Amino acid sequence: MKRLIFDSHAHYDDEAFAPDREELLQSLPEKGVCTVVSMGADYEGCKGALDLASRYSYIYAAVGIHPENVAELPSDYLSQLEEWAKQPKVVAIGEIGLDYHYKDMAPREVQKKVFEDQILLAKRLNLPIVVHDRDAHGDTMEILRRHRPKGVVHCFSGSVEMMREVVSLGMYIGLGGVVTFQNARVAVEVAKEVPLTSLLTETDAPYLAPVPFRGKRCDSSMIRYVAQRIGEIRGQSADEILLAARHNAETLFDIIAEE
Ligand code: NI
Repeated sequence: MKRLIFDSHAHYDDEAFAPDREELLQSLPEKGVCTVVSMGADYEGCKGALDLASRYSYIYAAVGIHPENVAELPSDYLSQLEEWAKQPKVVAIGEIGLDYHYKDMAPREVQKKVFEDQILLAKRLNLPIVVHDRDAHGDTMEILRRHRPKGVVHCFSGSVEMMREVVSLGMYIGLGGVVTFQNARVAVEVAKEVPLTSLLTETDAPYLAPVPFRGKRCDSSMIRYVAQRIGEIRGQSADEILLAARHNAETLFDIIAEE
């Protein structure tokens, strides 16, 4: 099988994969997966992503602190991230961003400060960022406009208008399982209108499995269904979508996918 599936966002350190992680990861290349970028979301997650990247040739790592985990950071966390980020298979700072969905998250000012500090680190190291934006479109855009980092807004949930602005800033739009959901009106509009040169495919595994696996544990091979749906929306083949997204991801993360 041709390996066209580039998963630009997964969490293979997640405990959902504990029972069969190695078996699953060994099987993904033969299911068409060429590359996975496994995200760090806290210290343990970063270490997990680095470990996987060191053991699997097709897995790369991103290191960063997710907004959910910013409340009690050690004061030297940026130097720890920098040390990790200099390892050869680290291709991005992520996942970082803002999450205003839950009331008990860290205060917005704290989230913004940690987000911006990590953007500055990424810019200094010339790495792209992987952005998490949940119910925080206004502040996310304000920060991206001001700092103009390279990167991707993952699991993009904004409007077509916001998508256009993200693209005009030179950033990419990450689309995953949500486009296949029955009630996905805005995501479908975005999938239709996004320039093919700005699209990345992703899972957010173990979360957000596409239809017909919705609600089950997600893995990178399921991106085939995401590409199928995006292709259907745009009048293109799934392979065209996968190929374009792979090419875009190679450009953004500055790597060459395995064939
Ligand atoms: Ni994620």
